[in-house]
Amino acid sequence: MGLALVHTRARSGMRAPDVRVEVFMTGGLPQVTIAGLAGTVARESRDRIRAALQASQFELPSKRITVNLAPAELPKDGARFDLPMAVGLLAAAGQIPLQALRDIELLGELSLSGALRGVSGALPAAIAAAAAGRSLIVPEDNALDAAQARGAVVIGARTLAQVVAHLRGECVLPATAAPAQDDAPNSHRANLAPGTNTNLADVMGQALGKRALEVAAAGAHGLRFIGPPGCGKTMLARCLPGLMPPLTEGEALELAVIRSLAAPLREAGGWPRARPFRSPVHGASAVALIGGGSIPRPGELSLAHHGVLFLDELPEWDRRSLEALREPLESGEVHIARAAMHVEFPARPLLVTAMNPCPCGWAGDPSGRCDCPTDAIARYQSRVSGPLLDRIDLHVALVRVPAAELMRREGPGGESSLIVRSRVVAARERQQQRQGKPNAQLAPSELEAIVAATPAASLILERAAERLALSARAVHRVLRVARTLADLAGEATVDTPQMAEAIQFRATSIDANPLTQARLRASTLAEHAIGHGVAAAH
Ligand SMILES: Nc1ncnc2c1ncn2[C@@H]1O[C@H](COP(=O)(O)OP(=O)(O)O)[C@@H](O)[C@H]1O
Ligand SMILES: [Mg+2]
Repeated sequence: MGLALVHTRARSGMRAPDVRVEVFMTGGLPQVTIAGLAGTVARESRDRIRAALQASQFELPSKRITVNLAPAELPKDGARFDLPMAVGLLAAAGQIPLQALRDIELLGELSLSGALRGVSGALPAAIAAAAAGRSLIVPEDNALDAAQARGAVVIGARTLAQVVAHLRGECVLPATAAPAQDDAPNSHRANLAPGTNTNLADVMGQALGKRALEVAAAGAHGLRFIGPPGCGKTMLARCLPGLMPPLTEGEALELAVIRSLAAPLREAGGWPRARPFRSPVHGASAVALIGGGSIPRPGELSLAHHGVLFLDELPEWDRRSLEALREPLESGEVHIARAAMHVEFPARPLLVTAMNPCPCGWAGDPSGRCDCPTDAIARYQSRVSGPLLDRIDLHVALVRVPAAELMRREGPGGESSLIVRSRVVAARERQQQRQGKPNAQLAPSELEAIVAATPAASLILERAAERLALSARAVHRVLRVARTLADLAGEATVDTPQMAEAIQFRATSIDANPLTQARLRASTLAEHAIGHGVAAAH
């Protein structure tokens, strides 16, 4: 007498590995021992289970009970195992038929009253349970999340008593219906869900900023806006998710798993219907950005996966936080090492940053209201120089849109996000077919063959590199951007117009020094002249 086996799931990064709860009941002094969980976690779990059983009017025989969670080396956060352990205890005591436990898995925290509380990571658990051919019983709070898993049978319950009655066959808890088809992520205008993203057509003027957004979306290039307060940097950045190709079903599922690991899906933004836009504040800790914790959870970088990570007020950011972003942005993955485990979360967002040009914010403004000393401006801008900038291919200086233009509702340049998005989709498809990845991810060694610059275009770049003292990295960035411009234009080779426009996107800032500014403007104009009268991008 007295052996029961219950299936449940731990969480480890994006996975939900199988855990078995084994309960033995033997003679001897009455006591409950939990093996396979850390001391305090086990004690807290035992107290909750005891209280919940009592509140639900279940009685355990006065026996020696051992609960073992296996395998022992798995990362196990305690609370999610309350429900499977309580059910295992009752089954070992003969109060639940053992065969009722064969084809199900259970997951859930118990409150002292016997009510079930939601846990994190219900969706990956449901995916894994479905793959194992078992149904999954979860707290009602988790049922909708978990039911998103294809082919999963998910049963939501409110209390321990309900679960026990269901397993005894005294009542039948209904399976949670999978979400309706018209809730699918790509239903019409899904990427322009109101409240989250902005439509490009609502942005007046800022042609250069809009062009930069299109290029960023088309080649997955990192982007930096530099401009005075209120010129529309944040507004422009918010347009970007809606310019990227529609979220695929696979991307949505991956994102949903990430969200469900961070918090119950509902709190974390629900089932992804649009590409995410995450804008952590500059005080955010490295853990909030990258992820972490004793049971590692994904951070902002992963929550922005397949979408946009917006870092506003870039010079205000702590250098160490930015430094922590660099490696994951390069590899597209966050690695978190703990004593006993190593987890990975995907993290491939499009990086958009914004900053004022100087401490007061108005350097370069035609009003001349900036009176920051030159060295203060230089110091301000150099605060962000460094590794993060290596990830940014597009640098755009913005100026305020005149009030008269802001009030003009229609006029040229009023393209909607959907129109721009169709060009982006076509450009992305070209890249996918040619090289299997977006241009921003081209390695230096791949550039020459893939960019295919004409001799005239190469000459422009050579001259610009000399005149502007471009580093090798800067030259690579120009080449990647030029390739994307050619893809947007449907051209097989990069010719002078694309090269000239690409060089523009490295003009780093509204420089405080009017001389440098004039030099930059002059060189850009020269580029245009060489580029056979390219239409000015602004
Ligand atoms: N180009 C623009 N077109 C339409 N509205 C604008 C534009 N620029 C700024 N605004 C308005 O000004 C507000 C502030 O813009 P915001 O994007 O927050 O500026 P920034 O981030 O550069 O400080 C926006 O919410 C918007 O209402
Ligand atoms: Mg802003």
